[in-house]
Amino acid sequence: MRPTYAVINLSNLKYNYLSIRRAIKDVKVMAVVKADAYGHGSIEIVNSLNSLDGKKPEYYAVAIPEEAVELRKHKINQPILVFDPFNNTQAELVLKYNVIPTVFSDDHIKVLLNAKNNTSKGKRIKIHIKVDTGMNRLGIDYKHAFNFVKKVSRNDNFIIDGIYTHFATSDEKDKTFAKLQLKRFKDLLNELKKEKIRYGLAHAANSGAILDMPESYLDMVRPGIILYGYYPSLKTSGSIKIVPVMSLFSSVTSVKNIAKGESVSYGKRFKASKETKIASVPIGYADGFSRGLSNSAKAIIKGKLVQQVGTVTMDRIMFDVGNEKILPRDKVTLLGKDGKYKVDAQDWANILRTIPYEIICGISKRVPRTYKD
Ligand SMILES: Cc1ncc(COP(=O)(O)O)c(C=O)c1O
Repeated sequence: MRPTYAVINLSNLKYNYLSIRRAIKDVKVMAVVKADAYGHGSIEIVNSLNSLDGKKPEYYAVAIPEEAVELRKHKINQPILVFDPFNNTQAELVLKYNVIPTVFSDDHIKVLLNAKNNTSKGKRIKIHIKVDTGMNRLGIDYKHAFNFVKKVSRNDNFIIDGIYTHFATSDEKDKTFAKLQLKRFKDLLNELKKEKIRYGLAHAANSGAILDMPESYLDMVRPGIILYGYYPSLKTSGSIKIVPVMSLFSSVTSVKNIAKGESVSYGKRFKASKETKIASVPIGYADGFSRGLSNSAKAIIKGKLVQQVGTVTMDRIMFDVGNEKILPRDKVTLLGKDGKYKVDAQDWANILRTIPYEIICGISKRVPRTYKD
């Protein structure tokens, strides 16, 4: 195995998941494992959560049908919701692998019925209806949702297994808009109840809402980022304690002395202010160590915090290790803890002006994942 690798700590995953379970009490969980479980490896993450037997998630969610097929091929039997709309071939996959599509237009209904004919799958198709309450990305507009749900509920080809919406600002400090979205959604649910139109499980809460809006839990919650040990932003509360699941390590390849005034890497964007030692480490932007981290990120070698220097290259980065006794093969902690120091995806996100989601999803396939219980 190459010396650059990620460690996925499954005990930390279970710790986060069980903390969420405790907070939401009897509400169901749809664990969001899209994008290869935010870069952690969806099969291993799902198998680990499913080892919790009676406490395992009731549902899983992915973005695209192909991700659901991957889970089914690994004998994952729980209901799997696909968030994204589908084309004709994807609709056939949805039926063939018994996964739940998201539906919010007449066109979706048509495509599914067409796929039903093509695959001669006789069963009624389980669907979740998505309602747009203000995110303005996907879903039937909340103002038209009642009539749409009513119409679909009368179509014998379908079972409405669930209905959901998605918050645009649950990770902001000011929850005014998230509360308005929730009100729009709850008003719709009340109208449907009044007319005795069955809609299955109602769900809305992503990580921000799970942390800060217990009134949004409804029948089921959809945690993503907090499962993996990061808060969705720096503005939510830390009402549920979580720990990062992914660590990232490498090791020193070579160390060289450079004189005062010498530069390091492409573009000479680092110049030594005094004589120093430069350690070269085999990870680069092709692995997800973004070029934007150049001259800004820190790592830990032998319990010491060291500064990354010079432009990040495709396969390699350099550190100024000063006078430290650092040798080839010494371990480098890029994300994780060593002694009294820690570096995490939030630190990288701060430098890159992004969110931890993008950091952990961005650790590329070239980085082998090892799993630790
Ligand atoms: C529809 C939907 N629900 C839930 C989630 C999970 O969000 P988070 O990772 O913020 O918990 C996502 C993620 O983007 C989503 O698209």
